[in-house]
Amino acid sequence: MARPPAGSGPGAGSGRGGRDLAVRLKTAKGRRLSSTLWLERQLNDPYVARARAEGFRSRAAYKLAELDDRFRFLRPGARVVDLGAAPGGWLQVAAARVNATGGRPGRPRGRVLGVDLLAVAPVAGAETLVLDFLDEGADALLRDRLGGPADVVLSDMAAAASGHRPTDHLRIVALCEAAAAFAFAVLAPGGTFVAKVLQGGAEGSLQAELRRRFARVANVKPPASRPDSAEKYVVATGFRGRPPGSAAGQGADEGEGEGDDDRGT
Ligand SMILES: C[S@@+](CC[C@H](N)C(=O)[O-])C[C@H]1O[C@@H](n2cnc3c(N)ncnc32)[C@H](O)[C@@H]1O
Repeated sequence: MARPPAGSGPGAGSGRGGRDLAVRLKTAKGRRLSSTLWLERQLNDPYVARARAEGFRSRAAYKLAELDDRFRFLRPGARVVDLGAAPGGWLQVAAARVNATGGRPGRPRGRVLGVDLLAVAPVAGAETLVLDFLDEGADALLRDRLGGPADVVLSDMAAAASGHRPTDHLRIVALCEAAAAFAFAVLAPGGTFVAKVLQGGAEGSLQAELRRRFARVANVKPPASRPDSAEKYVVATGFRGRPPGSAAGQGADEGEGEGDDDRGT
């Protein structure tokens, strides 16, 4: 799949609005209220319908497509790691855009490696590993599998909701910090890090670290992200690289980044 033209496929217009809530479930059929509301939301979500029609594994595919349409980090030939890849919507978008299947002859062929706690049904052009990214040694295993630096590290990792907001918040922060540490160790200079964060953007200390290590840092809510969800994505581009002599993943460049914070867009 080539990058779709404007107005069609992932990355086209927001797909939001213009469609009133049409389906109301009349009977609960033994479902809990929360399940009924979830089902109603799914049935009325234009991104869900579009993902089904366009063959994407998840509506999340459009979030990555929209982020890439804006920041242009998925270039043909890029090597991409996707953390929290199941069921595979981001893998589909990334594999198509970096030409991982070689479907665009004459353009460099990229590589996509996805990781998740859950198995992912095969996606053309992507390799996948079933792995708890927080396990001891998971990062080393991934680096080994990659066999060289990455151009893009993506993380859409999210732990199953516990129902306890502070706990969920801490979990998502921990996942984002682990993903960032991995990105610092594995990215090639000029590389990009994209990760799910919460409303307000990356936590203060992580934000500062990202600004030191990348030329530009933005916190954005792509149109496909549900308006009632607290999620946002941090997009850090222009990795400055590791200081000479530093071990992979250790040490930060000196000096201030000219962070171009896009908070709240
Ligand atoms: C929102 S889903 C990702 C959706 C995906 N981007 C897509 O487009 O289909 C979040 C995923 O993060 C995974 N995850 C959460 N914690 C993880 C961990 N410690 N290691 C690996 N994957 C994890 C979950 O299993 C889940 O599949």
